[in-house]
Amino acid sequence: MRCNLAICAALLSLASLHGAATKPQRLGFGAPLTADALKPFDIDVRADGTGLPPGRGTVKEGETMFAQSCAACHGAKGEHPISPSMRLTGGKGTLTTPNAVQTVGSYWPYATTLYDYIHRAMPFNAPQSLSPDQVYAVTAYILYLNGIVPEDQTLDATSLPKVQMPNNNGFIPAYQLGK
Ligand code: HEC
Repeated sequence: MRCNLAICAALLSLASLHGAATKPQRLGFGAPLTADALKPFDIDVRADGTGLPPGRGTVKEGETMFAQSCAACHGAKGEHPISPSMRLTGGKGTLTTPNAVQTVGSYWPYATTLYDYIHRAMPFNAPQSLSPDQVYAVTAYILYLNGIVPEDQTLDATSLPKVQMPNNNGFIPAYQLGK
């Protein structure tokens, strides 16, 4: 559009006056987030166990769970022979070799992360469908398969953070590099 300077200025100031007059104070969209609405998203479990829910599960219960809900994809004992990202067992002692096998047992530094991951993402086809008892149980079974807990282990919010993972000291925080 072509216009001389005076007309353009007048048009512009009219436009901005109009904007000021009709600008709403609030858009009125949405509603304040309540603690209850936030709950389903507040599921993180930290390395020290903060966020673990009440509940408990045993290796034996986990064995049954695993056969029903996990083995079809991960192999009967978590040994998936083809896909490395689906192997849940083995690989201990291989991390410093050219053929490192990274699994929950050989690589993951915290047992609590196993709870967080399974609860958040597994079974792959029905994430967040397991109860806390079921997640504790299947976590116990995977740790047992890796020789990290004994067969009579029960896991809950107190015992799980105490489980020491073999590669717990295998990570160097970035701020310590070069020191
Ligand atoms: C339908 C197939 C399927 C089922 C059923 C399934 N998973 Fe998985 N799982 C996967 C896939 C695919 C991955 C890799 C995902 C990725 O790398 O993003 C995976 C990854 C994992 C990992 C992370 C492995 C790693 O080292 O990164 C764990 C732990 C795990 N699954 C546990 C379970 C448990 C426990 C169950 C049963 C409650 C289960 N999964 C059921 C497909 C499945």
